[in-house]
Order: sequence, then structure tokens, then C-alpha cells
Amino acid sequence: MKRAELEPILAVMRACAREAGALVLGGFRKRHVIEHKSAAELVTRFDRESEALLRERLSASFAFDIVGEEGGGDFRRDRPAFFVDPIDGTTNFVHGHPFWCVSIGLVIDGEPALGVVFAPALGQEWYAFVGDDAREARRRMHAAWRPEGETDEPIAVSTTAELEHSLLATGFPYDRRKSPDNNFDAFVAIKKRCQAVRRCGSAALDLCLVADGTYEGYWERKLRPWDIAAGIAIVRAAGGTVTELEPTPEGPIASGHLVATNGLIHDALLHELAHAPALSIAPPG
Ligand code: IPD
Ligand code: CA
Ligand code: CA
Repeated sequence: MKRAELEPILAVMRACAREAGALVLGGFRKRHVIEHKSAAELVTRFDRESEALLRERLSASFAFDIVGEEGGGDFRRDRPAFFVDPIDGTTNFVHGHPFWCVSIGLVIDGEPALGVVFAPALGQEWYAFVGDDAREARRRMHAAWRPEGETDEPIAVSTTAELEHSLLATGFPYDRRKSPDNNFDAFVAIKKRCQAVRRCGSAALDLCLVADGTYEGYWERKLRPWDIAAGIAIVRAAGGTVTELEPTPEGPIASGHLVATNGLIHDALLHELAHAPALSIAPPG
């Protein structure tokens, strides 16, 4: 799709993310009823209410499929679909840590085309489009932005080319207590090779911080499409590179094993991860 077709969709997505973000912010640092999906994975009524709002607002404007963390949904590569994470970073939200967001991605032909990530407790938003003419738009006027006060600043990935000078981010899967495929060994190996590694608890925000040049790179395994659809669009539109840890026919959205960087450190990070002990590529779940 061309930018002219994507822009009005992006505008609605941004409005929806802001509305859902305001709803969730109303429950931040308040008493919630918490449920456990598993020993490590939490959910609250704000996850459900935020997703219900997103589904209602998006379906009122578009006929696209909607796939969300709490309500599910089927993804067909031949049909455009919104991927919504009503709160990415629920553990943070529950504990009063401000690093959480609402994430909405539009995937067309299996590739992220639009992304909006709104983090109300941080007062930050990132958005981007990756349309057919995005490369040209980036050359002329950028394709990814982060509002700062009254203006929307174009964002771009960092220009650091050495892994040893890189600030990286990662995360660990919810089954980490039981599964040996938990990223612990890779984390230790990479931590010895770079400036530092952060683990802040929201995959969508980690990707945005690669896009705006805060982090040089990010990797994580066993992610789900709603964690990453928006963030992948934002990284790519800001000039970054997103691939799988090891290529599969389905690509990163479906496999959930992701490496996102400024492009300059991509091969070096992939190399270190491939040689880290105990790195095995297992399906998400
Ligand atoms: C989680 C966050 C976290 C990542 C997990 C995700 P949720 O999403 O993105 O950073 O490590 O794999 O599931 O559960 O807070 O929506
Ligand atoms: Ca998530
Ligand atoms: Ca979530």
C-alpha cells in the first residue's frame, strides 16, 4: 500500500492507542484484581478492557481482521490484520513500573506495514509506516516519528558500529522456570561482549528504543505476533534491520525469535548469539 492509503489508517490507530492508553493509565499504581495465566504470567481487567476498546474502535473503522493477546483471532497471510497488545509489559504495569505500552501493528501480506506504540506512563509514543514508498519517504522526510512536545520528531537508528560500544536489550520467556531454552546463557555471553544489556519487560518498547537510537540492538525468543508487529514496522521504518535468530520460511512475526538492530551491528550480534551456549531455536509456546 502507498503512504497516502496508509496515513489515514495510521491516524485511527494512533487515536485508538491513545484512548486505550488513557484507560489503562487510569489503573496504573492502583489496586487491581490480578489473575495468573501461569506462574510467571499475569493478566488484569485492564488488559481485557483495553483490548475490548481497541477491537471496538478498530472494527468500527476497518474491515481488517484483529488478532489480540487476550481475545485471540486467526491470522491469514492473504488478509491484512491488526495485531494488538492491550498492555505490553503487564508485569511492569502490575508492579507500578512505568515501562509498559499499548501496541498496534497492521500486517499486510505477512509484513508489518504500520506500527503505533504508546507508553502513557512514560509520556512517549512511536509510530511509523513501511509502505511501498517508505524507502523513498525515508530519504525525503523519514517514515518513523516520536512526538516531543508539540512536534513529531523523525527518528532513526543509531550509528554505532561496534558491538563492544553497544547498549542492547533482551527479555526472557514466561516458561523460563521450566524450559532450558530460556535465553539465560545467551544473555551472559552477550553481556560480556557489549557495553551493557537491559531487560525492561516490554518487547514493543524495546523495539521502539532500537528504532530511536537508544539501543543499538535487541534480541528475544518465543515472542508472539502482538508483541512485535508494531515494533518491527517502527524499527524498519527508522532504518533498522529485523530478522530471525535463524531464518525460517514464516519470518520473524510467526516464529517469534527476533533480532532487531541498527543494521551496523546485526551480523556481529547474530554471530555472537549463534555461538552462545545453549541457544536452540524452539517454536513459541
Ligand atoms: C511480554 C513482554 C516482555 C517479553 C515477554 C512478552 P506481555 O508481553 O513483551 O518484555 O519478555 O515475552 O510476553 O505479557 O507483558 O504482554
Ligand atoms: Ca506482549
Ligand atoms: Ca499483553
